[in-house]
Amino acid sequence: MASRQPSMSIVSEPTIRHRPDEHVSSFSPATSAPSPASSPGRLVVDAQNISLTFETADGRVDALSNVSLQVAEGEFVSFIGPSGCGKTTMLRVVADLQQPSSGTLLVNGMSAENARLARSYGYVFQAPALFPWRTIEKNLKLPLEIMGFSEADQQQRVERYLSLVNLTGFERKFPWQLSGGMQQRVSIARALSFDPAMLLMDEPFGALDEIVRDHLNEQLLQLWKSTEKTVLFVTHSIPEAVFLSTKIVVMSPRPGRIIDIIDLEIRETPEFLKIAQRVRSGLRAGHSYDE
Ligand SMILES: Nc1ncnc2c1ncn2[C@@H]1O[C@H](COP(=O)(O)OP(=O)(O)O)[C@@H](O)[C@H]1O
Ligand SMILES: [Mg+2]
Repeated sequence: MASRQPSMSIVSEPTIRHRPDEHVSSFSPATSAPSPASSPGRLVVDAQNISLTFETADGRVDALSNVSLQVAEGEFVSFIGPSGCGKTTMLRVVADLQQPSSGTLLVNGMSAENARLARSYGYVFQAPALFPWRTIEKNLKLPLEIMGFSEADQQQRVERYLSLVNLTGFERKFPWQLSGGMQQRVSIARALSFDPAMLLMDEPFGALDEIVRDHLNEQLLQLWKSTEKTVLFVTHSIPEAVFLSTKIVVMSPRPGRIIDIIDLEIRETPEFLKIAQRVRSGLRAGHSYDE
């Protein structure tokens, strides 16, 4: 199976230490949020019957089987399911880091490859993947340097996106001087810094404790509302998925497939419990806690 490594080293995942005195403050509301140029309702992801089989020394692994999914501009879509059900693979396929064995896929109206070349998405991993020898500012500038933004533009973007994640003043700090939650906010600022149409987030808060995670969830929700980005978000957490999403994709392994797609129009209401229950039963139907 063809696998492409991303061209920028920012997607490597170094081990980052988390400070015990984790403290997170709110993201500030966007003052100059980028507004998507295109019309509402446009499909950012249109996947039809995507299957992907890995050939391994131990045999074939059906990571994705007949996955069809449409994501409209501005949606917040969570992928939930047990380990190994293909959540990361799905994101990697959308990002053109992995090619499907069959099926068709349009990202932002073009092939996944062209969408990657057009920098249609920013990627946020579970580990913040910041270079420890670079300051926060220099970490943020790295992809912008590689993409050829002018020095003045880089500086403006660093200021704008650090402010968006409420980290103004931390420009000259090194990653290890920031808490895990703050590092993850830097990583989100970096993913937003070149104004992609879409954020791909693979368990971005999975390594953080629950209180910090709750904070970051609220802040991410504000950020999503103010920037109007489309978000594809992988999580193991039912409350996180229900709290954040306009749509929840429930997945199950062997072979990785979609069990249920739930549209959420009302959040923070009694509906919450009902939906959480439905996610749970979908997960049970896909029954895969035996790995
Ligand atoms: N590069 C690869 N080569 C072989 N098998 C892989 C590869 N990447 C993922 N897999 C397998 O595909 C399945 C789905 O993996 P993944 O997408 O990482 O699941 P999830 O993110 O939901 O935990 C798993 O069984 C995993 O072992
Ligand atoms: Mg994964």
